[in-house]
Amino acid sequence: MNVVILGSGRGSNAAAILQAQREGRLGRAQVRAIFSDQPHAGILELGGDEIPTCYLKADTFKTKLSPEEEQLWIKEIEAHAPDLVVLAGFMRVLKEPFLRAFENKVINLHPSLLPSFPGLDAIGQAYRRGVKITGCTVHWVSPEVDGGKIIDQEAVRIEKTDTPESLAQKVHAAEHALLPRVIAALSEGM
Ligand code: GAR
Repeated sequence: MNVVILGSGRGSNAAAILQAQREGRLGRAQVRAIFSDQPHAGILELGGDEIPTCYLKADTFKTKLSPEEEQLWIKEIEAHAPDLVVLAGFMRVLKEPFLRAFENKVINLHPSLLPSFPGLDAIGQAYRRGVKITGCTVHWVSPEVDGGKIIDQEAVRIEKTDTPESLAQKVHAAEHALLPRVIAALSEGM
């Protein structure tokens, strides 16, 4: 199963996927390429000798791709014949033409137990609201932001002693376990 990863940030989840692959915990999945919409994102440092990493132009809008950029992204990703496109901290909304090009192949990681706390700063939203359990979710991507069918989730307990920073650390640790596990399961037909 060919996997292409898209991300905008430091890439700790992409790193967790690559580590799982090295340790034989990614089932039949193989990461083929990593793309970012941010030219200096940490995620672009992760490829090593084996996996191509590439910044793709995305500077017309802040939160989405322009139609021209979208066509470029589709073409570059298609060149790796992906069976699965993994959004690992990709901070743009992908629209219909992209989702049609990779129908039933795009999954997203979100740092809350959806449907609670969709959108930006989900960890901060959960902390401020005072919920006692939050976590992370992997779901299929649909045109509705953070609204697609849920594949799997991991719960995290918020203790009285937690700060926004310690909670973020706990949620990220849960993500690093969840995302490789979901990819491996999908590669084996779940
Ligand atoms: C992760 O916490 C992921 O859930 C979140 O961005 C972070 C990326 O971290 N994604 C979203 O908020 C998507 N709406 P990373 O670059 O270290 O993997």
